[in-house]
Amino acid sequence: MEKTFYVTTPIYYVNDVPHIGHAYTTVAADVLARYQRLSGYRIFFLTGTDEHGIKVEKAAREAGEEPLQLADRVMQRFKNLWVTLNIANTDFIRTSEARHQEAVQKFFRTLVEKGDIYRGEYEDWYCVPCESFWTDTQLVDGKCPNQDCRRPVDKLREESYFFRMSKYQQQLLRYLEENPGFVQPESRYIEIVSFVREGLRDLSISRTSFSWGIPVPGNPKHVIYVWFDALLNYISALDYCGGGESFQAFWPAQVHIVGKDIVRFHGVYWPTMLMAAELPLPKQIFAHSFWTNKGKKMSKSLGNAIDPCALADEYGVDQLRYFLMREVPFGLDADFSRQAIVGRINSDLANDLGNLFSRVIAMVHKYFNGDVPQGGSLEASDEEIKDKQAAVLKAVAECMNQLAFNRALIAIWELISLLNKYIDATAPWVLAKDAAKKERLATVMRCLLEALRLVSVLLWPFMPASSESMWEAIGGEGRLEEQKLSSAGQWMTVTAGTKILKIPALFPRIEQNNTP
Ligand code: ME8
Repeated sequence: MEKTFYVTTPIYYVNDVPHIGHAYTTVAADVLARYQRLSGYRIFFLTGTDEHGIKVEKAAREAGEEPLQLADRVMQRFKNLWVTLNIANTDFIRTSEARHQEAVQKFFRTLVEKGDIYRGEYEDWYCVPCESFWTDTQLVDGKCPNQDCRRPVDKLREESYFFRMSKYQQQLLRYLEENPGFVQPESRYIEIVSFVREGLRDLSISRTSFSWGIPVPGNPKHVIYVWFDALLNYISALDYCGGGESFQAFWPAQVHIVGKDIVRFHGVYWPTMLMAAELPLPKQIFAHSFWTNKGKKMSKSLGNAIDPCALADEYGVDQLRYFLMREVPFGLDADFSRQAIVGRINSDLANDLGNLFSRVIAMVHKYFNGDVPQGGSLEASDEEIKDKQAAVLKAVAECMNQLAFNRALIAIWELISLLNKYIDATAPWVLAKDAAKKERLATVMRCLLEALRLVSVLLWPFMPASSESMWEAIGGEGRLEEQKLSSAGQWMTVTAGTKILKIPALFPRIEQNNTP
């Protein structure tokens, strides 16, 4: 049977414009999707926008628009950003689409039929910016307990439909205990387990206080609460309603990548909803941490959100993607600074990788007229490269399976620095002076080209456009995106005599003094 891999990002709210945090999650999901594609999986990679709710309704009113008009406008900004950042998503789901609405209503009806949804009355504290309800005991100093929010909350009392979440507390707890990898990293898993142990209340899942949402089937006075609506995007995009090929092939998801702010919704609400509907649970929820700007959370109100489009424009798309994935372990907090991005570009990309690549191309042109040389038998230093290649492929696979993107890059850079050392040690410019060493020179060039081919495959998930340029320049056969890791380490697949192309510097240095 064909191996499939389903990865998702959160669907982003349309009441705010995209910033670097959204780009971070989406680039990570793209890197993982591309990597698993090279591993031989058929991929479904989903992102989209979360368009309903009181926040959007309010923002639209303030802008003098209909909610859908506002959603259309902001959704387009997300879509444009994904094109700019070279994100290869399979689908883009909007919660205002009919396919989503139908799926949510079907799901709602299924739970009503099971007796897991009932009508009651709701009274609690509501935080509008977080779209979250809190009990008296959860409030901190009478304000929203969300660490990054702490804003005033409103008392809300209304008729509401409830999801019997409490019924699934024991089942979820058992599931969490049996599957410690279900929520990652471990700190988030512990957070979820203790939240569930404290006891789950039934969840209010409808509102009568606003109307921008999906109507409750049979009682349109109510709209479905945003989280109950939003989480279902992960199956509505697979045609849960039709129960067709996509749903069969891709559900359950391998991983939902989310920020730590929404891990509770994914680690508690979502699995209990799925349990109620008797659907399989996603294999994993991975919650990464937050990017801050000079130590402060980025927000519209502080006006300190970093615009990923401007960064991509200034430094380059692949440079930005590389920086986001390399700078900090996925899962730990990160503070953005221009010095850090410039440092990474100049040292890792311009010096280590870019120089290596242009030196090899220049030497093949100088010594072999730009033709891939055949080369002769391998010496110990050449075998060392081959061994390193095998080790790096294995290390990268282990890291990528743990979503340890920075460690995967560190492993690839071990190969790159070995190649730089190899050039210094073999000194091709010395070999070139001695006609008797021509074959040795050819072998050295051949080894470098073979290893660079693997480097360009391994870097494709992270920096697709630059890797494609590398691949084409050194005569890689077929399209890079169609390569498979299982054969990427093989040598001598390029015929001797294949032309090597001269290309402009992949990663030009950035002058430090230009950075504020
Ligand atoms: O929560 N650093 O949407 P949202 C890193 N619609 N990542 C960040 C970030 C930062 N500073 N800021 C945001 C929602 N993110 C809901 C989701 S899913 C069914 C519904 C990323 O627009 C991170 O992934 O507020 C976070 O979880 C997400 O954006 C929140 O996006």
